Amino acid sequence: MAILITGGAGYIGSHTVVVLIEAGYEVVVFDNFCNSSDKSIKRVEEIVGKFIPLVEGDIRNSIDLEKVFENYSIDAVIHFAGLKAVGESVAEPLKYYDNNIHGTAVLCEVMQKYGCKSIVFSSSATVYGDPHTTPIQEHFPLSATNPYGRTKLFIEEMLRDIFVADNQWKIALLRYFNPVGAHISGVIGEDPNGIPNNLMPFITQTAIGRREFLSVFGDDYDTVDGTGVRDYIHVVDLALGHLKAVEKLHTFESVMAINLGTGRGYSVLEVVNAFEKASNKAVPYKITPRRSGDVAKCYADPTYAKDVLGWEATRDINQMCEDSWRWQSNNPNGY
Ligand code: NAD
Ligand code: UD1
Repeated sequence: MAILITGGAGYIGSHTVVVLIEAGYEVVVFDNFCNSSDKSIKRVEEIVGKFIPLVEGDIRNSIDLEKVFENYSIDAVIHFAGLKAVGESVAEPLKYYDNNIHGTAVLCEVMQKYGCKSIVFSSSATVYGDPHTTPIQEHFPLSATNPYGRTKLFIEEMLRDIFVADNQWKIALLRYFNPVGAHISGVIGEDPNGIPNNLMPFITQTAIGRREFLSVFGDDYDTVDGTGVRDYIHVVDLALGHLKAVEKLHTFESVMAINLGTGRGYSVLEVVNAFEKASNKAVPYKITPRRSGDVAKCYADPTYAKDVLGWEATRDINQMCEDSWRWQSNNPNGY
């Protein structure tokens, strides 16, 4: 019995593979490497000291997926595979609808065919749009501000419809806040293509000298110091949340939407300060205009995750920064 990890060669997937193997699970990684390579899985093998079955394939291709279900006995799927660049999704919406939504539909069809009806889906705090208040609870109204966010919202709806049609399905919608950090070994971590969109990889690349300075997008928000506030969560804590979800999935009697965050927000400048302290490196920055589509504050109420999964994040901002920096300084150019 094995867990299929779609997108398992990516940032969150590779950390989750480590956690699952360490907990005694068998896994099969499935990835088309459109935003990763097999190097991350080779590195995971170094960490866990075990061979990891890796299948190259596309979730939109049922033949690729059927091969996996024919060759392995798959108990449940953790579905990370997807495109995630907000700007690109605005420029190329069809690419996102095809890859993320169509891909998930094909995956679910193949799962159904092979009688595998347990799925943990990578959703995002982006489904809350511009939240009317914080901390954000799971029952808050949902909306999307860009095509990427809309794919997450539609997939959540699609999975709810699948459950209505057949309530043997066990479905967890994990809504991640802002994943950062890396495995403590510094051997695996986040390796974005091109110029990073997200704050932490931009900070680490600035500290290592690949970027001249960080642009801080706006200092006139209604927050502690005017810069945007987010709920940064260590990727290993996030991976442990997936382990808990897999363990609890069989007890779920409805589709479970669960926030995975820490409940604590940090401003951009607080993150910069924490990073400088943890790394002993300066991060030059300039205040620039707001980035369109950004909200002032976004952080989770993580109570529900604690209640239903028995999970809570334990790694603090200092550890997030230390681990991000260890990964970046050991691998200045990524994998
Ligand atoms: P990532 O890009 O590192 O990993 C995604 C993986 O999926 C990559 O290895 C990519 O090659 C693979 N993939 C994409 N399309 C595929 C396809 N059609 N067939 C097979 N493989 C495919 O991203 P990540 O940060 O690890 O994110 C994982 C998931 O979590 C994504 O669905 C993302 O939308 C979601 N998420 C990420 C964040 C974040 O900030 N990183 C926040 C919220 C939600
Ligand atoms: C962004 C996406 C969101 C996606 C998430 C994870 C947008 C509008 N939102 O969220 O949909 O789910 O990434 O991939 O793109 N910042 C800077 N300078 C930088 C980068 C970021 O000041 O160079 C600030 C931002 O304004 C924000 C904070 O840092 O206040 C975090 O930004 P980021 O890491 O991009 O995450 P989100 O905006 O929360």
